[in-house]
Amino acid sequence: MPTASPNPSPTRFDWMQIDLTGKVALVTGASRGIGAAIASTMASSGAKVMLTSRKQADLEATAAEIDGEVDVIAAHVGDADSGDATIAATIERFGRLDILVNNAATNPYYGPTLGVDVPRWDKTFEVNLRGPLLWSAAAHRLAFAEQPGVIVNIASVGGLRTEGALGVYNLTKAALIHLTRQLAGEIGPTRVVGIAPGLVTTDFAQVLVDNFGERLAAELPLGRLGDPSDIANLATFLASDLAAWITGETYVIDGGAGVRGASF
Ligand SMILES: NC(=O)c1ccc[n+]([C@@H]2O[C@H](COP(=O)([O-])OP(=O)(O)OC[C@H]3O[C@@H](n4cnc5c(N)ncnc54)[C@H](OP(=O)(O)O)[C@@H]3O)[C@@H](O)[C@H]2O)c1
Repeated sequence: MPTASPNPSPTRFDWMQIDLTGKVALVTGASRGIGAAIASTMASSGAKVMLTSRKQADLEATAAEIDGEVDVIAAHVGDADSGDATIAATIERFGRLDILVNNAATNPYYGPTLGVDVPRWDKTFEVNLRGPLLWSAAAHRLAFAEQPGVIVNIASVGGLRTEGALGVYNLTKAALIHLTRQLAGEIGPTRVVGIAPGLVTTDFAQVLVDNFGERLAAELPLGRLGDPSDIANLATFLASDLAAWITGETYVIDGGAGVRGASF
């Protein structure tokens, strides 16, 4: 009677290899943090990747570190025409577009929601919500209407709960989660999926990491804060054909914070 498989896990996981060969991805906010990790992981899975954010020099430095076929275009996701121009340039450069990752975001205001001024309210919604809307529209019009693709929206656990000083930012993320569901229903078979990360160690979260990171990490079942690679692995899976029957949903990835109600 057999007692143990000679080679259990490698054979079981071979079929799970994520392969994006032949696909072209465009990642916003790709010069650092989570976006850079997503661009790198997708490139190492075989995709050709266009990295975009506002600063050309930062993009070039990040792209130089990535092993794979990548290029860069500087663009501000809040500019109304930037989605069309960047997606057209990506198709021109790589011949097609299969994956759009709406990752760039900003948070210019910390404080009580009712205390926000109009310029910072507008700025937060322009970058975090109107940007993904217009870039998704451009991707659909210029590529996915003909050849269905995948849109991955990077939201936040803050879009699913209330938090003290992050009310305005969280409103944009709640709306992005809803936009994910809405678009999935409107533009299928293009898949539209969301990711809601907990606290991840990036420049964006530096203040939160400095003030609450140690305590929060100790409260998490998995005992540490998120690394950009954690989010990149999920984004790459969701963008791949392994996730071919997933659309409209947003996936929490937070080291188990939700299990214990851990927050800052
Ligand atoms: N870190 C966390 O704990 C955490 C948790 C939940 C959700 N998230 C979400 O994860 C995403 C990535 O965050 P991150 O922590 O990786 O941030 P990050 O390290 O600050 O990186 C942000 C990226 O977005 C770019 N960017 C900012 N404003 C832009 C604009 N108007 N147009 C184009 N690009 C812009 C930045 O480059 P330039 O400055 O050169 O433009 C940079 O590449 C965001 O959607 C964020 O809301 C983060």
